[in-house]
Amino acid sequence: MVAWLFQLLRHDLALVVRGLPYEDGRYAHGPLEAYPSPDHVGYAVWRDHPNTSRPAPIAFALCEAVTVARWSMAALWVSPVVRGEGVGTRLALDVLARHGDEWEVAFQHDNVSAGRFWRRIGDLAFPSGWDESRRPVTRRVDVPADHVIVGTRPPSASAPGAPARAG
Ligand SMILES: CC(C)(COP(=O)(O)OP(=O)(O)OC[C@H]1O[C@@H](n2cnc3c(N)ncnc32)[C@H](O)[C@@H]1OP(=O)(O)O)[C@@H](O)C(=O)NCCC(=O)NCCS
Repeated sequence: MVAWLFQLLRHDLALVVRGLPYEDGRYAHGPLEAYPSPDHVGYAVWRDHPNTSRPAPIAFALCEAVTVARWSMAALWVSPVVRGEGVGTRLALDVLARHGDEWEVAFQHDNVSAGRFWRRIGDLAFPSGWDESRRPVTRRVDVPADHVIVGTRPPSASAPGAPARAG
């Protein structure tokens, strides 16, 4: 299921990263090969589909351990139909609370709405402050360097008990 949704994320980012489908008709999907594993974890948000009344995914997130102490948000996608409802914010904050205390989130320079989104999440998740730096994109000298937000969750923040799910 996530493999299908990952293609929708890559399609949404296609103009930003100048990404074309490969010969099999799919965008890049290599990052999915490491999932799932103890240090590569995915989450989905489900909502009853209006046509079937059965739960169907409306959003997903992928995160991975960079080191024992630091995790990275590798992907976050919300269906365009429900964007602006706060689904992405709830999913991001939920996932950030489930793994290591130190986090990094990278986003493309030209993904302006993602930049606004992640800086706002930084303020919410890392109230004592967060850093933003630039990181060149591997093997791509033709695109602007990514932005990377790094923050540490407050010590009192406790992980939620239930899997991410939105009604
Ligand atoms: C970035 C993304 C995950 C945000 O998901 P989302 O569910 O729309 O996020 P939210 O609704 O929590 O917040 C997004 C916007 O809606 C606004 N918003 C949040 N809750 C709202 C509500 N209840 N009513 C109205 N607006 C709301 C926020 O202010 C925010 O505005 P912004 O565009 O200025 O940042 C989504 O746009 C997406 O999937 N984009 C394509 C993929 C992508 O770029 N992923 C990130 C790669 S790093």
